[in-house]
Amino acid sequence: MMYNNEHFEPVITPNVDKPGCDTLDFYLKNEDGYKGLEKALKMKPAEVVDEVKKSNLRGRGGAGFPTGMKWSFMPANPVDKDGNPKPKYLVCNADEGEPGTFKDRLIFTKTPHRMIEGMIIAGHAIGSNKGFIYIRGEWFKETRLMQKAIDDAKKAGFLGKNILGSGFDYELIIYRGAGAYICGEETALLNSLEGKRGEPRLKPPFPAQVGAYGMPSCVNNVETFAAVPYILLKGWEKYAKMGTERSGGTRLLGVSGRVNKPGVYELPMNLSINDVIELAGGVKDGKKLKAVIPGGASAPMLRADECGVLTDYDSLAKAGTMAGSGGIIVIDETVSIVEAAYTLLKFYEHESCGQCSQCREGSHWLARMFKRILDGGGTQDDLDYIAKICGNMAGQTICAFADAVTGPALSSVKKFRHEFEELIRNGGIDKTRAHTHSHINEGAHV
Ligand SMILES: Cc1cc2nc3c(=O)[nH]c(=O)nc-3n(C[C@H](O)[C@H](O)[C@H](O)COP(=O)(O)O)c2cc1C
Repeated sequence: MMYNNEHFEPVITPNVDKPGCDTLDFYLKNEDGYKGLEKALKMKPAEVVDEVKKSNLRGRGGAGFPTGMKWSFMPANPVDKDGNPKPKYLVCNADEGEPGTFKDRLIFTKTPHRMIEGMIIAGHAIGSNKGFIYIRGEWFKETRLMQKAIDDAKKAGFLGKNILGSGFDYELIIYRGAGAYICGEETALLNSLEGKRGEPRLKPPFPAQVGAYGMPSCVNNVETFAAVPYILLKGWEKYAKMGTERSGGTRLLGVSGRVNKPGVYELPMNLSINDVIELAGGVKDGKKLKAVIPGGASAPMLRADECGVLTDYDSLAKAGTMAGSGGIIVIDETVSIVEAAYTLLKFYEHESCGQCSQCREGSHWLARMFKRILDGGGTQDDLDYIAKICGNMAGQTICAFADAVTGPALSSVKKFRHEFEELIRNGGIDKTRAHTHSHINEGAHV
């Protein structure tokens, strides 16, 4: 199948299948490594911000916030109460803990210098001399690879003092998390980075005012940074053209679940979910598609007949779901939707930080209700009650975790109510089924 987009070319993954692609040598020889930085350092910071603004790059961490605009929120010359200048920090969110999302790990293992280069350019743009990379606790190998890449970049003069003779200094520090999904939420991440409990902060103040260690900070996702060198090197127009009117560039989609070729695909956004499934080798074992979760576990499910929708932010939002973190989870006719949703709800129940009662109790109640329905103890009233609990969670808490929980809970009942009713009528899931498995996270690795 053609990509159906004459402007498309891979921005982040052109060589990720080549041996040695993670090394500095490879990046310099084959990918114009650090040439975007060279160009950016000759520009004024405001010009770099403007270039990224015009490229229409939107944050790839989940919310899709315009990156250039976020950078422009950083105060120019912040001072403390005594008038002394305050440092500004850049933070890379590499916590990637959402079920079905595994694209950032590919960048870490195959093209780490692209992300490092993006961070240095961003540092120059927002006037920061220090960046933190907050890495998911379980990523041992990835941490080692990233540290080596940082050390190599430093030895080659791309990090440290007076980078490329420009007078700009930049330092990158790795911080390993301890394996909590909530620490991917940017303010919980900041608390965790400071050695505090990983609980989200009330906003305002936003990180651009009070961020890491109380200083103005800007948090971006791994993929967001990795897109930046291309924008600087090839120009905003080329990047913007590859995308849609309101969202530039390409996206990394992690396709998992019931497909023949699960993996990370870099694609233009004018493809439909059905196209993406086709590129990933189609539904496994020739089965019929039942549903798709199009943007990581929190994104409301789409029924098979809705999968003609395009994968850009606006089209998915219009279809009542979201592009989120680019994790496309494919569910076939053999999977029980109630079981698949329960698998996700168990995850959320375990990961709620417990700070807000609506989320702490709600995620627990929802998981228990789905389990009860699967076990044969459900009632018709439960279905209305699920909607009521979700109504008391979404938008009612400090962070968006509670909203995320309602994604699979509400959409599964709304779109597959008959499956719930069948379980209620028939006394639960058939325990004699040889194979009961939700297939969530199947193939979700690189
Ligand atoms: C519960 C929760 C988990 C999140 N996990 C991640 C994550 O693992 N990685 C990430 O980049 N953003 C994650 N986010 C989004 C971040 O809060 C933030 O929006 C993002 O890092 C901003 O970067 P971007 O503008 O480049 O997308 C999460 C949000 C929530 C509510």
